Order: sequence, then C-alpha cells, then structure tokens
Amino acid sequence: MNQDILMQTVARLVKPPKGILAIDESLPTCNKRFEKLDIPTTEEKRREYRELLVTAPNIEKYVSGYILFDETIRQSTKNGKNFTSILQSKGIDIGIKVDAGTVDLIGHSGEKTTKGLDGLADRLKEYKKLGATFAKWRAVYAIGENIPSVGCMKTNAEIFAKYAKLCQENDIVPIVEPEVLIDGDHTIEKCYEITAYNLQVVFDELRTANVFIPGIILKTSMVLPGKDTKEKSSSGKIAEMTIKCLKEKVPSVIGGIVFLSGGQSDEDATRNLNAMHKIGPLSWPLTFSYGRAIQNPALQSWAKNSSDIANAQKLLLEAARNNSLASIGQYK
Ligand code: 13P
Repeated sequence: MNQDILMQTVARLVKPPKGILAIDESLPTCNKRFEKLDIPTTEEKRREYRELLVTAPNIEKYVSGYILFDETIRQSTKNGKNFTSILQSKGIDIGIKVDAGTVDLIGHSGEKTTKGLDGLADRLKEYKKLGATFAKWRAVYAIGENIPSVGCMKTNAEIFAKYAKLCQENDIVPIVEPEVLIDGDHTIEKCYEITAYNLQVVFDELRTANVFIPGIILKTSMVLPGKDTKEKSSSGKIAEMTIKCLKEKVPSVIGGIVFLSGGQSDEDATRNLNAMHKIGPLSWPLTFSYGRAIQNPALQSWAKNSSDIANAQKLLLEAARNNSLASIGQYK
C-alpha cells in the first residue's frame, strides 16, 4: 500500500468545486431505468448513453471522477476511442463499482448484505490496468420495525473492511458506501439514529482492520425523513442533522465525504448539499457523488430524442454545474 498515492487520489477527487459522477448502474438497474422511458435494454443502447455521458464537453470543470460499471469500463465510443482514455485525457479519475449487488441476509428477514468479495483481489488488479484509481462498494439498510439489526450492520461493516483493505493494497481508493434507504415513513430523527449508529459500527470495523482512514472516501446517504412520511423537513434541518451526525461519527482524518442522491428529487439533493456548506466550517471535504440527481434530465431528454446528444449533454453539464456550486455553498 502506498499511502501517498491513496491520499493524492482522494485529494483530486474531493478538490473543490468538484464532485463525482456515478454512472455505474448495474445491468438490472440501468435496464429498469431504460424500460421506464421506453429505451431498448440492449448493450448498444447502454453504450450509446454512456458515450454521451463520458464525452460531455467541459464536464471536467465540475466533475473530478466518474464511477463506471464493469461493462462500461471496457467500452468505447462509436469511433473506437476507449471511454477510459477519454476520461483520462480530461484529467478525470476512473472509478469502478466492484460489488456484485445485494442479496438477502440469511436469517435476517428484510435485510440485505452485499456480495462480490470472491475473486476481488484479481479483479482489482485488472481494473487497475484498465486505469481505475478508485472503487466503490455499496451496502443498503432499510429502516423498518426492528431493522436494521446490529447483526446486519456488523456483517456489512466487516465486508466493507475486507474490501477497503484489498483496494488499498492495490493503491486503489475505496469508496465505502453505506446507504440508509429513503423508503418508508420513518421520521428524520429515526434516520439520524440509524445512520449515526451504523457509521459508528462501520468505522469501528475499518479501524480494527487497520484500514488507512485518510485514504478512503465515505459515500453516505443524508439524514432524511422517509419518502412516505407526511412530515417534511427543510434543507436547513436536513443539513444541520446530517452535519451533526457526520461530525460525531466520522473521523476527522478521513480523506473526504461524498453523498449519494438516493431517490431525492434533483433539486432537493442540490439544495441540501448547498445548505450544509452554509453551516461551515467542516472538518473534511464534503461534496457530491450523485447518479440520478445529475443524470436524470439528460437521460429524459435522450429518451425523447436520442439524436439530440447536444441537448442531453447540455442538461448534464447544467446539473453538474449546479451541484458544483452547491459543493461550495454558492447554489442559488
Ligand atoms: P444515486 O445518486 O442515484 O443514489 O446513485 C449514487 C450511487 O452511486 C448509488 O450507489
């Protein structure tokens, strides 16, 4: 493990005013989003869509890294240029989703764990050759009656630690992504309690496994009320509770913290990040790593008219710019 390389990669990824764009939807997730918009679910259509994301002019002003999926890291433009070399030529870091999705956690009804550790050491070596400098692993936690359980949180935290160690041994920065799901009618206080407890469990395991904390990025969900609750929270309250939770539970030496958008509206995801930067000063770099909240307008435009690449790219750039402004508290 080369700590300098890890810290330099982290520093590039979270350097203001930039954040990370997640375009690493797995085949089932990408196909689900395509189906909703009547886009054919073929490899060629996924390639075409990802080509417009990767080649969007000037995106490097706002985005420091792209997280790719296994299929995407091997793809090229219609003219035969590797996506990876295009990103590298813009100075954008290449990330790769290395988990293999979630599965039911045996003995824990309604809870999930994440698979993909088998063969991970070899895959990381291959991804590194393909240009990856960082990786992502996501675990999900549903809030419900008596869940998430301590067992579920501990199981996922142990897996995070194994994944993070393997990444760091290969000089690849691990993004550790514990996502507390927005589904349900829980209160924001409940989300706070679960997120805080879980972050404690995650960092306890990472420290126990001797993961180099300055050489990781935490990708977390915000502290939010469930999407089915009637009680709405202001951006100010979401920001205040999220920052309180992160200040209490995330070691100040961490390389950086980024957010997923997790099913919030695009506008909410941007406003909430902006509100956090109004609070300051923060102990760590804090920015976005959105998928949907940046891609949505572009995907919708492309679904309506797939020949108008320029409009889709314009919308992508606009969303990236708004979130870049939010990452320095300047979004209006
Ligand atoms: P969303 O921003 O769409 O939640 O996606 C981010 C991500 O990488 C989820 O794993």
